[in-house]
Amino acid sequence: MVYQIYPRSFLDTNHDGIGDLRGILRKLDYLQTLGVDIVWLCPIFQSPNDDNGYDISDYRAVMTEFGTMADFDELIAAMHARGMKLVLDLVVNHTSDEHPWFVASRTSKTSPYRDYYLWRPEREHRPPSEWRSAFGGPAWTKDERTGEYYLHLFSKKQPDLNWENPAVRQEVHALMRFWLNKGVDGFRMDVINAISKTETLPAYEAYVAGAPVAEEFHPNGETVHAYLKEMRSEVLNGHVTVTVGECPEVTPEMAHLYVDEDRQELDMLFQFEHMDLDWVPGTDTWHLRPIVLDELKQTLSRWQTALDRRGWNSLYWDNHDQPRVVSRFGDDGKYRVESAKMLATLLHMMKGTPYVYQGEELGMTNVAFDTIADYRDIATLRMYREKLAPDGSNQAELMAAIHARSRDNARTPMQWNAQAYAGFSEVKSWIGVNPNYTSINAEQALEDPESVFYYYQKLIALRKQQDIMVYGEYALLDTGTQPLYAYLRRMEGRVLLVVCSFTTQEELFRLPAELAGQPCECLIANYPAEPTPADMLRLPPYGAAVYLFTAQ
Ligand code: NOJ
Repeated sequence: MVYQIYPRSFLDTNHDGIGDLRGILRKLDYLQTLGVDIVWLCPIFQSPNDDNGYDISDYRAVMTEFGTMADFDELIAAMHARGMKLVLDLVVNHTSDEHPWFVASRTSKTSPYRDYYLWRPEREHRPPSEWRSAFGGPAWTKDERTGEYYLHLFSKKQPDLNWENPAVRQEVHALMRFWLNKGVDGFRMDVINAISKTETLPAYEAYVAGAPVAEEFHPNGETVHAYLKEMRSEVLNGHVTVTVGECPEVTPEMAHLYVDEDRQELDMLFQFEHMDLDWVPGTDTWHLRPIVLDELKQTLSRWQTALDRRGWNSLYWDNHDQPRVVSRFGDDGKYRVESAKMLATLLHMMKGTPYVYQGEELGMTNVAFDTIADYRDIATLRMYREKLAPDGSNQAELMAAIHARSRDNARTPMQWNAQAYAGFSEVKSWIGVNPNYTSINAEQALEDPESVFYYYQKLIALRKQQDIMVYGEYALLDTGTQPLYAYLRRMEGRVLLVVCSFTTQEELFRLPAELAGQPCECLIANYPAEPTPADMLRLPPYGAAVYLFTAQ
């Protein structure tokens, strides 16, 4: 399993209110207790932090706030000594506008670095296209020095690299080698399927000659596959690594092009379909709608089935861009513990590699800061600025959307204990601590055998004992209109039954005929489940139970 760390919010050891690498080093025992195999660190490189490190100005230097290269070397050595692997975030769809390549690129149209980025002249006194940045506002910014526009799919401080330029690809390969030579075990690749723009944006000459630009930008351009194959053969193949590409707008069918083994591209990808179920399709992500359990089932099942024999899934609920799952798909009030365990069961029993984001193992929840002044996320602040009515009349509505959807929900400091600043820091942290840290924190979880933490620990340990959890074939069970998500995993005559309840009511689940009355063992449950159910399972609110039926 992979544990994701957002270093800025993990543990501050030098009292500047910002997490650091030595903070991670200090918590390796904690990670080992949980059962972590691989740690993925969100970007740790030098950055002006317009987007918290996803805007890199030096790929070979550690961010000053996070520590030094010596700290990094110590951290990776300590992890390897414990048998843990380290995955870094590779952010190469774009750089910071403060990266020396961009600084040089913008100086003149003839700069040797000009073609590292995507510059286009205006068209009929308009930007080259009407594309919008993912954070709001136009995706093109005019640079007065040369009078041309540059493309930035994210903030204007994150100019997109031109991957059609072989020199850019060689630079990326070189920086990957730099970290691999330091012993890094793999990469999580930021919006990697957006690097190819050929289908949407004509090359400079063709553009100037009048070739049309696509109305909207979409990732998954054709050349991405050639670039990933090249990266694999040029850089990765000489090393034992793991790669996972962040791929918005990818369907299970398209996923095969990225993760089928014989294609030699990525090992895994992060898809978004199950993360898109609580906002209105076709709008920006701030228009909420209630989750429909059936849609969650259909979405996850499609991925399970499509990648059952070819390819490999990554399984995740939380990350640094998503609201906390217990607040989103569970109940972060009365049934917080039960629903956090239920959601963990649902995901960890599936086929694929599970990812746990810091604090998820504690059942950490969304935060609801009172004022916009407490928020830090560039996307949140921008949305608020753009949408706030001049008379402020929609303020409450915007704050409600922020409470539900802001990326800062995942970025509040890790809750280590009930002391000031949740034990994250000794000073005021860069973003406020969730006030519920006095009752939800690691220290308390470690003292409570019934905690969400120990439940995750057990799920993680089970995967190492039960090969059916890894390899078993997935089949969704039909539970009619009941608010249940039940599925089977099958392998060599054995069957794993997973039943999860999404309601505050008690539910009765009828076992499939083939399993009723068969000998079985309860592997895990978030309530005192019947050891050998006959034909009915009685599920309490947010109940979850897993039974292993072995062939006789
Ligand atoms: C995806 C990252 O996960 C997100 O945090 C970031 O803002 C964008 N890519 C841009 O790098």
